[in-house]
Amino acid sequence: MAKQFDVIVIGGGPGGYVAAIRAAQLGFNTACIDEWKNDKGGPALGGTCTNIGCIPSKALLQSSEHFEHAGHSFADHGIGLSDLSIDVAKMLGRKSTVVKQNNDGILYLFKKNKVTFFHGRGSFVKASDAGYEIKVTGATDESISGKHIILATGSNPRALPGAPFDEENILSNDGALRIPAVPKTLGLIGSGVIGLEMGSVWRRLGSQVTVLEALPTFLGAVDEQIAKEAQKAFVKQGLKIELGVKVGEVKSDKKGLSIAYTNAKGEAQTLVVDKLIVSIGRIPNTIGLNHEAVGLKLDERGTIVVDDDCKTNLPNVWAVGDVVRGPMLAHKAEEEAVAVAERIAGQHGHVNFNTVPWVIYTSPEIAWVGQTEQQLKAAGRAYKAGTFPFMANGRARALGDTTGMVKFLADAKSDEILGVHIVGPYASELISEAVVAMEFRASAEDIARICHAHPSLSEATKEAALAVDKRTLNF
Ligand code: FAD
Ligand code: NAI
Repeated sequence: MAKQFDVIVIGGGPGGYVAAIRAAQLGFNTACIDEWKNDKGGPALGGTCTNIGCIPSKALLQSSEHFEHAGHSFADHGIGLSDLSIDVAKMLGRKSTVVKQNNDGILYLFKKNKVTFFHGRGSFVKASDAGYEIKVTGATDESISGKHIILATGSNPRALPGAPFDEENILSNDGALRIPAVPKTLGLIGSGVIGLEMGSVWRRLGSQVTVLEALPTFLGAVDEQIAKEAQKAFVKQGLKIELGVKVGEVKSDKKGLSIAYTNAKGEAQTLVVDKLIVSIGRIPNTIGLNHEAVGLKLDERGTIVVDDDCKTNLPNVWAVGDVVRGPMLAHKAEEEAVAVAERIAGQHGHVNFNTVPWVIYTSPEIAWVGQTEQQLKAAGRAYKAGTFPFMANGRARALGDTTGMVKFLADAKSDEILGVHIVGPYASELISEAVVAMEFRASAEDIARICHAHPSLSEATKEAALAVDKRTLNF
């Protein structure tokens, strides 16, 4: 007889593993199935995020930032260095160690919370009286059944038509995170989040990086003022960004790659590079789930169709994370996961999509929450804006990083904060205050009245809130 569970989670990324832990905390007999293998064939929990996404990219961003600081900013502090070099193999080894610590951490959390883990691929067999029968195909095959199923099968990189990933020359995020030596020239297709983060890593280490972006505007989803400031900084750092291009044929051989494209003026061009990263978005993953067996509904893009509560078209089958609508972010997946487990327990789990923060971990970092100025204009909403530059912040000057600003957008009448946008040092950390404020529906004046430590970058947040009322103190 198949082992019976209250909840079976398919996928062990941030959506899946968090759903499993929360379900177990709520007293459900819970299983999680994940097929990711480490280089020894063992389990590697954490999904894209831990293995080839958030965590390894941030490890490499950190290493490359140290390298850049050592090469460019240490001298300003009176620190002399000679023979600066980068050992790429060691840097990649450190990244792998960080990844493994996270993989093992999740296995430990499963044990601690009594989640039963199955290493293998989970697929639907049929709906049954006990719920759903799920086949696990792995080192040993098993059949298990669950009353509730939570699908968290993530996403895969989208390839350019006619240029499949070979992870040697044409790289997805996977190959981009393990280039064995710094390429002299690196091409990037798509100036989105992955493109900018990965481009930053390899540029800092010495690659000459060219980005080809289809859209005529840089970072179209970001507040225009912030995007312009970021673009200026990236170009100054040496990133070559071509907007409004149409990419044509990609030819790849042992010597390198050539990419035919038409530039914004309509002129035919060719980019020749040693390596090419293609980061043009991701597609939801339902490969091998055998969703047809139970009639699970997908849309034309392959996204699992869910309602606002993450319920699919099937009773007691839920889906969260990259495989459903909404931003493809680890923390969004985690919030949905917790909410679903709580809904299964009869509680009122809730995700506020208006306060999901975004962070791009470049230097300067870009972070935002809520609406952009262009969105407010398009919606015809009356608003007030306030900005404060890091140039006027004492801590930023002491850090030696005064690029960028904090920008507040607040309702013209009520002063409620509608959006906060930051480009500059530690924007990833600073944005939390704005998220809390918006979650509590604070006004710009609320932030302006709060005591912020001095000297700290967070004073720029307070000053930007004061700027909404045109009364900055330090600018
Ligand atoms: P995933 O993390 O993709 O996990 C899905 C898991 O399910 C995988 O382990 C997969 O093997 C498994 N699986 C799939 N099908 C089956 C099956 N049938 N049976 C068993 N197992 C299965 N987001 C951020 O918020 N911050 C960042 O800094 C960030 N950086 C990123 C950097 C890169 C380079 C990339 C590519 C992504 C980044 N993201 C970041 C996005 C983030 O990784 C995803 O939003 C997040 O991983 C989605 O979580 P998930 O649980 O939905 O899916
Ligand atoms: P993206 O959606 O961020 O950017 C893709 C870019 O490629 C867009 O600017 C798009 O206009 C462009 N593009 C699409 N087709 C093109 C073509 N044929 N030629 C040229 N340009 C083209 O996608 P990306 O960078 O692949 O990342 C996927 C997702 O992963 C992100 O949207 C984000 O959800 C997640 N992610 C999050 C990170 C973070 O939170 N810090 C870091 C990395 C990824």
